Amino acid sequence: MTIEGGSAGEGGMRAPFSGRVVVLGVCGGIAAYKAVELCRRLVDAGAHVVPVMTTDAQRFVGEVTFSALASERVRTSVFDDPEDPIPHVSLGKRADLVLIAPATADLIGRYRAGLANDLLTATLLATEAPVLVCPAMHTEMWQHPAVEDNLRTLRERGVIVVPPESGRLAGGDSGEGRLAAVETIVAAAESALAQRRGADLSGVRVLITAGGTREPIDPVRYIGNRSSGRQGYALADVARVRGADVTLVSSSKLPPPPGVELVRVETAAEMADVVIDLARKADIVIMAAAVADFRPAVVSGKKLRKSEGIPEIALEPTTDVLTALGTRRRSGQVLVGFAAETGDLRRRALEKLTAKGVDVLVANDVSREGVGFSHETNAVTILVADGASIEVPLSSKHEVASAVLDVASERLRAARTQDEGLDDARPEEARS
Ligand code: CTP
Repeated sequence: MTIEGGSAGEGGMRAPFSGRVVVLGVCGGIAAYKAVELCRRLVDAGAHVVPVMTTDAQRFVGEVTFSALASERVRTSVFDDPEDPIPHVSLGKRADLVLIAPATADLIGRYRAGLANDLLTATLLATEAPVLVCPAMHTEMWQHPAVEDNLRTLRERGVIVVPPESGRLAGGDSGEGRLAAVETIVAAAESALAQRRGADLSGVRVLITAGGTREPIDPVRYIGNRSSGRQGYALADVARVRGADVTLVSSSKLPPPPGVELVRVETAAEMADVVIDLARKADIVIMAAAVADFRPAVVSGKKLRKSEGIPEIALEPTTDVLTALGTRRRSGQVLVGFAAETGDLRRRALEKLTAKGVDVLVANDVSREGVGFSHETNAVTILVADGASIEVPLSSKHEVASAVLDVASERLRAARTQDEGLDDARPEEARS
């Protein structure tokens, strides 16, 4: 992630993992090879990754692979560093997060029992950082009462468990027990770090829209778009984890993240009514929804029949919700828009930023592979009204959400500071 130009660049914007020390524990299972990709993704996201491999892990992946990709050389033993006689304590203290992927049944058992017979388990006992355990094992082992019991106890102690998925396992078997997807683990790590960072959006009211609207033609047909709503849901999830009071106005059918108030809408007109009303009380409004620009001028009350010939559907414009919010916004409110483009990204996005009167515009080129609608990942350029811009390379939608919320919360802080300054500058009687 890079920050270019503008004063906001120095103003505390940070990549989701920027400067955070992640101790990546790798155990001896076939999924150890996936930890290589996980390591790279964490480093790309800005984390400082220190890998710790168990002896068995080294049978599956070479130390050199992790040392080459991570931020520091791999650690394998309590005794291998002449300059650091107590590496488990120093690693445990430095860690902002200890992430174990894959976590074998053996590691889970030893951790639960409080054993410290290698560097990884010793570090687990020596740390106060959040711990994320990502199990991977055969289905029979995963479902064994001993493993279930160990994980229950670890959860009770505050350990975050990222459950495995179903799929192909080693030896040609298939079933539950495959390591969770790298994107899922990165998103869980990010939530854990956000919680540790503290609730920096505590008390902030955030209104987020998500999904593509549906404009009815007749009782069975509609004009829609490809938006899945996932980016808006990721924003809602991350904002909630960071302490915000979140309302999500959505036309997507996805279930809401826990702790988020959901208002379901279908059409652009419903979206406009609900959002314009709720925005009066919001500190930050993020329009991630793909709102239709046009709708059928007349909606047929009965299904249009083929036998009646090819219909001519006249369209009329919908309300541009973001522009309406821009004209109504109250002092100190931060408005964030999205722009889905298929080329000439920066110029078009800058035009929208000005035309819609927003503080922040998140632009993505939806014609790029892995970007935008229907994908688990996204890559965006975040443009800020003061001229700053931030590039977020291909990342999970949670990572993108975190970067967007960093910028929005920074703008909110700046607006509040400015308001307080104005308030102080007014005569005493005008303030009371
Ligand atoms: N938007 C809105 N109301 C609309 C259309 C769009 O609030 N009727 C918002 C979107 O939620 C998004 C931003 O405006 O935050 C930009 O949407 P986008 O579809 O990229 O641009 P449009 O303004 O619709 O322009 P065009 O489709 O011509 O690119």
